[in-house]
Amino acid sequence: MKLLTPGPVEVPERVLKRCCQKVISHRSQDFRELLTSVVEKLKKLVKLDEDGAIAVLSGSGTTAVDAMIWSFVKPGDRVLVVVNGEFGERAADSAIRRGAQVEAIRAKEGDVVDVDTIVDRLENKNYDFVIVVQNETSMAVRYTFEELRKIGKVAQENGSLVLVDGVSGLAGDKVWFTDGVAAIAGCTHKAIAAPPGAAFVAISPEGAEIIRKRYSEDIPPALDLKRYIDKYDSVRETPFTPPITILYALEEALKIIVDEIGVENYIDIHVQRKHYFYNKIRHIDGLKPVPKNMKVASNTLAALWVENATLIQQELRKAGYIIATGIKEYKNKMIRIGLMGDINFKDLDIVVQVLEQSLTKQK
Ligand SMILES: Cc1ncc(COP(=O)(O)O)c(C=O)c1O
Repeated sequence: MKLLTPGPVEVPERVLKRCCQKVISHRSQDFRELLTSVVEKLKKLVKLDEDGAIAVLSGSGTTAVDAMIWSFVKPGDRVLVVVNGEFGERAADSAIRRGAQVEAIRAKEGDVVDVDTIVDRLENKNYDFVIVVQNETSMAVRYTFEELRKIGKVAQENGSLVLVDGVSGLAGDKVWFTDGVAAIAGCTHKAIAAPPGAAFVAISPEGAEIIRKRYSEDIPPALDLKRYIDKYDSVRETPFTPPITILYALEEALKIIVDEIGVENYIDIHVQRKHYFYNKIRHIDGLKPVPKNMKVASNTLAALWVENATLIQQELRKAGYIIATGIKEYKNKMIRIGLMGDINFKDLDIVVQVLEQSLTKQK
């Protein structure tokens, strides 16, 4: 069985093998070296300045996003959340639970909120933070780096800062720091292609300063980014027990991406898979891409409108592939196919073949 879900993804064997390494103490020199290596590589992955910070946490993407929101946002802060689907809703919910004054702007199905609309809001209202999900996994839509850069620039000019949920785009798209971006949240089990278990928040130097300046002890300790960055700064450790074996795997996955393939080339692999897949399904009757065009289409997963998603999912399972269906009301109307991890064009060919056969059967 191969995982073609939007996370977790098929992990290269070489990465998986590192999980079997001996568990070491997280208060040892060996661990400090491991964590330093992971942090330095993550900085390269998101193009973060040397004096930026990376908090490495135990947990999943949600942990990273919540830690980012709860550590930056204070009760009463004015927060704009750009909602292009379910993960935008979840970010808004997290900020509401934090006690922020949240305003959401929502996109139409299969589209993203236009950058000019975001710019207009930022120029005409005061927000402390703007939360953007760079790659909205529920609809397979994304913002380009140029768009993120524009949002960041205008946010900064208007006294606001951008918090980015980079969970499902990072490593497969240009989820990079740019002016105005204070933090980017990510995790191991999407395009980085390591097993689930570790999450991280990358923080710009300005972001780290804000976390320290506005610090108050009203955050659950496990989500308190100041504790992570202070501990790393002072002793190169994490404040709590980290998922040590997953960090070995993460180091290996980052070696492949950052040191061997190269950050840009690795992104390009995902771009190629996206075009390859959508081009192949274009001629198949009964399949319609969810993203409204290729610019907004995610690099890391494809989504298609279908008549019976569960049936297609079952057919693909018989052929050895696990895919996802839609979320909530889209459950049986949409299939979502991950383009991340240790897969190749042949896998995509087989998926397309099975899709075609399955739709013919349904007629
Ligand atoms: C954009 C985005 N944010 C957050 C999450 C939550 O991540 P997790 O399920 O690892 O907690 C996901 C999961 O798919 C996601 O795609």
